[in-house]
Amino acid sequence: MNRHLVTLEDVTQADVEALFDLAASLKAKQRQGIAHPLLQGKTLAMVFEKPSLRTRVTFEAGMTQLGGHAIYLAPADIRLGQRETVQDAARNLEQWVDGIVARTFSHQMVERLALYSQIPVINGLSDSHHPVQILCDLFTLWEKRGSLAGRRVTFLGDGNNVCHSWLQGAAALGLSFTLACPPAYEPDPTILGRAQERAKASGARLEVTHDPRAAVREADVLYTDVWTSMGQEEDHAQRLRDFQGFQLDRALVEQARPDVLVMHCLPAHRGEEITDEVMDGPRSIIFDQAENRLHMQKALLVRLLGPGVRVVS
Ligand code: CP
Ligand code: NVA
Repeated sequence: MNRHLVTLEDVTQADVEALFDLAASLKAKQRQGIAHPLLQGKTLAMVFEKPSLRTRVTFEAGMTQLGGHAIYLAPADIRLGQRETVQDAARNLEQWVDGIVARTFSHQMVERLALYSQIPVINGLSDSHHPVQILCDLFTLWEKRGSLAGRRVTFLGDGNNVCHSWLQGAAALGLSFTLACPPAYEPDPTILGRAQERAKASGARLEVTHDPRAAVREADVLYTDVWTSMGQEEDHAQRLRDFQGFQLDRALVEQARPDVLVMHCLPAHRGEEITDEVMDGPRSIIFDQAENRLHMQKALLVRLLGPGVRVVS
């Protein structure tokens, strides 16, 4: 596995499966109250340009549970690239801490942090990718269904950050992934094209359609995300109009397989991309997903910050 986790483009099936095993063991220890201070004395800097509940709390709580410490740096604290250059910020942070989680608007900002840092950089969401989310979601699916290859995931919504990481994760693990989105909300063609190249080797099937009803048929998993992502608030009214017909409601769930699982990365805008009935209904594993943010990210932290990691500079 690479030193950084900026996207899922280069993550291998073996990397992900090793993380599943580690996450499962850390989860069992946590539930049984068995101490697991694998990152004692380690410190994580958390540089966030956007708000967060899950990513912030799970990385912070995860570091505490692993015997380490996390420092949250809010948007006004360091103002990456404004108060000083990204390179200078990275060259400071690496003197004091053992890893960085960054949540940024521009994806280039995370890439540059990784380029200039001798310590691991984890992307905690950028405008273009959300790799930790999809690692945690894959872990949740693995817990629920075992083998993942060939599972059919249908994503209803915007072809942006969460969808991009799904395309890369599905390509790595050989899943079948269909995005149903309105015209003009398709994924970045370069990210889609590269994932499709990788899919040839893994057996994944990656598709984009504008027909939500056709897309949900035979799905094992129905996944959705907000129609208006952080930073797009001014487009809210337009997006509400554009995404009509893409709401994950009971009628769509009933078109899928009877044992379909409903997933959402959260936060949810209830009544927009998903109804209360589906979110709180019997097919939903949404809050299991949220729980697993903690366990899978702890595994990632141990893998990237823990002892025995060979740092290649
Ligand atoms: N899913 C997710 O990343 O949630 P937050 O934005 O609350 O961190
Ligand atoms: N697409 C959403 C994901 C939030 C976790 C956003 O970027 O706001």
